Amino acid sequence: MLLPGDGIGPEIIKEAVGSLNAIGEKFGHSFDYEEALIGGIAIDETGNPLPEETIGKIKQSDAVLLGAVGGPKWDTTDPDEPRPEQGLLDLRKEMAVFANVRPVKAYKQLLNASTLKEEVIKDVDLVIIRELTGGIYFGEKNRKEAEAQDTCSYSIEEVDRVIKFAIDVASKRRKKITSVDKANVLETSRLWRERAGKLLSGNELEYEDMLVDNCAMQLIRNPAQFDVVVTENMFGDILSDEAAMLTGSIGMLSSGSFGDSKPALFEPIHGSAPDIAGQDIANPIATISSCAMMLRHSFLLEEEAKRIESAIEAVLEKGYRTLDIMENGKEQVGTKKIGGLIRDEILEN
Ligand code: IPM
Ligand code: MN
Repeated sequence: MLLPGDGIGPEIIKEAVGSLNAIGEKFGHSFDYEEALIGGIAIDETGNPLPEETIGKIKQSDAVLLGAVGGPKWDTTDPDEPRPEQGLLDLRKEMAVFANVRPVKAYKQLLNASTLKEEVIKDVDLVIIRELTGGIYFGEKNRKEAEAQDTCSYSIEEVDRVIKFAIDVASKRRKKITSVDKANVLETSRLWRERAGKLLSGNELEYEDMLVDNCAMQLIRNPAQFDVVVTENMFGDILSDEAAMLTGSIGMLSSGSFGDSKPALFEPIHGSAPDIAGQDIANPIATISSCAMMLRHSFLLEEEAKRIESAIEAVLEKGYRTLDIMENGKEQVGTKKIGGLIRDEILEN
């Protein structure tokens, strides 16, 4: 199921489909695609950022690949006007994908593209697990003439399931979990910390609690200390943008969102970048690498997933770069060109 959305969404999804088709050709699979509306384009065509028709199609699919939503055309501070982002939030809620997995690993070919020193980022290999269907994003909202409120609320069930998910991920990695909260101020964070303590103490994992402000600082000071970071919705949103820059560009990072049942949702962590839409300069690698995640987790096709990942690395190794990761001495190419190069790599023997 494809949800291209707005801005650069359609261009990057096109390149991702190219890579999937190349995988199909190489390994003898055939992928069926359905496409549906979400975000601003859905508002324009139906008045609703997540139309019923889209929800119906999702329920029949094995996996969902999303481009991006939003743009200045639909930007409004009027609480009564529809917003594209609401479509994405409704989609996550509707699909009940409570655990958002955002791996952060610097490509060795891009160590120079980061604003941080190579020695700080070269050993970074962490995963942020962001709670995705609760907290302040989904609490009651109020807007009056002279004041506004957003409510942050978490139940034990919501906290437990995402922490258990993180335990599962960490047990297959370096077995270290950092649970991030603001327990010195927020009641929801105190509940979070209490549950993290209960679920994480006394098992084989190394576990620490960290305050979110300190975590923001540690991610820049010494990011290699982290393995699995688990946190609530808004902290995870902010920390994952920050962590993305460790790798040089937010245009490189994939994500997958999982619930108790199928389908899962895959999307690049970057936004719709309306300022560069339609110019053939956007970096499609985050979306292509989200396809690798999809092959691995939704279709259990590990070899095929690795093929996409090594194709991306090979193209970087050969010196091709999109504008966002361009450096001296490399060859700058557009969205279509880099997509085509990755496709060719996949097909080569
Ligand atoms: C993300 C985005 C979304 C979020 C926006 C577009 C609603 O920033 O996926 O990180 O805040 O979750
Ligand atoms: Mn975000």
